[in-house]
Parts: sequence; C-alpha cells; structure tokens
Amino acid sequence: MSKLDRCASYDDFRAVARRRLPGILFNYIDGGSYAETTLEKNVSDFRSLTLDQRVMMDVSRVSSRVTLFGRELAMPLLLAPVGFAGMYARRGEVQAALAARDFALPFCLSTLAICSLEEVARGAGCAPWFQLYVIKDRDWTAKLLQRARQAGCEVLILTADLQTPGARYRDVRSGMMRKLSVVEHIKRVFEGLCKAGWTWDVFINGRPHNFGNLAGVLPPAASFSEAWQWIGANFDPSVNWNDLAFIRQHWQGPIIIKGVMTEIDAKFAVDKGVDGIVVSNHGGRQLDGAPSTIQVLPHIVRAVDDRIPVLLDSGVRSGLDVLKAIRLGARACLIGRAWAFGLAASGRAGVERVLAMYQSELKAAQVLSGQTTL
Ligand code: FNR
Repeated sequence: MSKLDRCASYDDFRAVARRRLPGILFNYIDGGSYAETTLEKNVSDFRSLTLDQRVMMDVSRVSSRVTLFGRELAMPLLLAPVGFAGMYARRGEVQAALAARDFALPFCLSTLAICSLEEVARGAGCAPWFQLYVIKDRDWTAKLLQRARQAGCEVLILTADLQTPGARYRDVRSGMMRKLSVVEHIKRVFEGLCKAGWTWDVFINGRPHNFGNLAGVLPPAASFSEAWQWIGANFDPSVNWNDLAFIRQHWQGPIIIKGVMTEIDAKFAVDKGVDGIVVSNHGGRQLDGAPSTIQVLPHIVRAVDDRIPVLLDSGVRSGLDVLKAIRLGARACLIGRAWAFGLAASGRAGVERVLAMYQSELKAAQVLSGQTTL
C-alpha cells in the first residue's frame, strides 16, 4: 500500500507533505499572515454552510462539466498559481501541469514559479494560464507578457492583492523572509539532509532552483530571503485600474483579476472591461482580518450580475466546498495548498490523487443534493 492510498482528505495529503518537506517549505505553504485569522475563517466558514439533502430525484446521470472562457472543463476546478512549486517536487510546475492536463483542467503558472513558462508549456505539451505580478520595470513586464503569448498561454490572471507581502510570522521565524545567521544556515542544511526523499528528488535532482520567469531581473543564485527582498522592492504598489490599459496593450486574450473581495472592486472590474474575477484573499496570506471569500461571494455575485464569470479560491478543501461555492454563484473554484501538498507528497501522482479526490467528492455531493448538472 502506498502512502497515497491512505490519503482520503486534504488533511491527509497535508500530513504526508509535512513529513516529506523541510519545515521552512511546509510552513511557507501551510501558513497565513499575522495571527492567521483569515486563513482559519476561510475554512471554518465553508464548514458552517449547509446543503439541502434531496431524495427521489433520479441522480443516475450526473455531470460536473462547465465551460469557462470557451473551454470545457471536466469539473469547475483550476490549479491556482502557487509560487516556488519547483521546490516542493522535482520540476514541480511541470509535474502539476501534467496532472492538470490529465484532468482537462487549467493550470495557472505563477510569475514566481521555479520552472519557466517555456519549460512548463514544453514539458506538459500544453500552455498554462499565466499569472502576472506587475513589477516596476514596465518594459520588463511587457516582455514577460510577450513571452507568455509566445508560449501559447491563453488566459492571463492579474494578481492584485500583493502590493506588498503580508506579515507572515511563520516565514520570519523559519528564515524564509529574512537573512539567516551562520548557525541557522547550518541547521537548515542539516534539516534538509534529514528529509532524504526531498533532498534526493528536489535538492540534488531538481536543479536549477532559480525563478524561471524572472531570469534577467533576479540574480540566478538568489536565496529565498533575497528573492523576498527583491519582491518587496520591485512589485509595483502604484498599480491601479488605469494600468489595465497597459496590460490590454500587451495582452489580447481574457484577463482575470485575482484578489477582488468587495462589491466596489468587483464593479470597477466589470466597468473596466475585465473578463473575469477571482474572489480571493490569497489563501489568508495577505490582509489578515479580511473576511473569508465564501462570506463575501454572494454579495460580489449580486454586484457582478452575471456580466463576467466570478471564480473563488481560499479555503476550498473538498469537492463538497466546490459545490457550496457553486451554489452561491461561483462559476469555478481554484485550489492552492491542496495541489501544492499533493505535489510535495508524490509529484504528479500526488496532484492527480488530489484532483481525483475533489472530483469524486463533488460528484457524490451533487448526487446527494440532487444536483445533476452545474
Ligand atoms: C499562493 N498564492 C499565490 N497567488 C498568486 O497569484 N501568485 C503566487 O505566486 C502565489 N503563491 C502562493 C504560494 C503558496 C505556497 C500558496 C499557498 C498560495 C495564492 C493562491 O493562488 C491561492 O489564492 C490560494 O492558495 C488559495 O487558497 P487555498 O486553496 O490555499 O486555501
């Protein structure tokens, strides 16, 4: 029996990933910002929602298919952009993109990926959706968009809620976000060596570990803390709705804004001609004290009034949660930590298991609540 056979839930994948990863990486994935209140609320608010149990409704045929930006998806689920994934498994972004392809689902590649756009498109045999962080050097941002177009990316996700990194206590403690002393550095190397599977798979055989999309702006040998310093100094906090004209000039396909949490921002997005929004608080990693995404979803859906698709992430831990979000008006959900933990647990196979879990849970929830289509 493999370790994956015993994984029935999000928490099980998380536990396997925790055993395999060095603590600095596990805590980077698992953690939120400040006291992690929003992170907890994302999950507990989903739990407190109920679904109607229906009976005698002929649920012999159930379909979870949906269409999004002209593409038919096997279920309303996408792999959210997650930075540093090539540190969780060898060439992690390529492995996750392959798993997403097997399920006919979009894989969103982060600006902060280890594997470059080109490597993922080549390795997975199909281009990912691309997630953009706008950096101060606009010429370079325009060139990155050009690379994404040339690699075949069809949809752009513009993440708007990382004007500056949230205060992530776990990452300060672990050294992810600050320079380590010599002693701490030795301790970290020792800890890495104790995680023999990870050391062999990622540390030795998963190189290079630089940020593929940032080649040319970030020094190739930058450590985690140097990368975070660079992010703090180079992400552009002046980005505002008028900058959409700049993005449009360099991107002809659909643009989705990720990080919308209020009705007013949702209305701006519609008025400015954005093609979709993701209701997201970055998985509780940015503004702690922000409400959960499932709490604000119905208000945003009402404000958008069907003019553009509304997607949701943050706290979606099961197929049951996906159905709850769909019932409240989301067109689809994204998952972040869930696929990252699946990847850390067992590479492409781990992500496939996670996706299979969401798919079967969603189907069962549809059957038991009498919802044969979405
Ligand atoms: C993220 N997220 C993220 N978002 C983004 O737009 N670009 C990025 O590079 C990252 N990086 C990242 C790293 C890690 C480790 C996590 C956990 C998350 C946020 C991500 O896209 C998504 O919004 C959340 O992960 C959704 O919440 P759940 O599913 O993790 O609860």
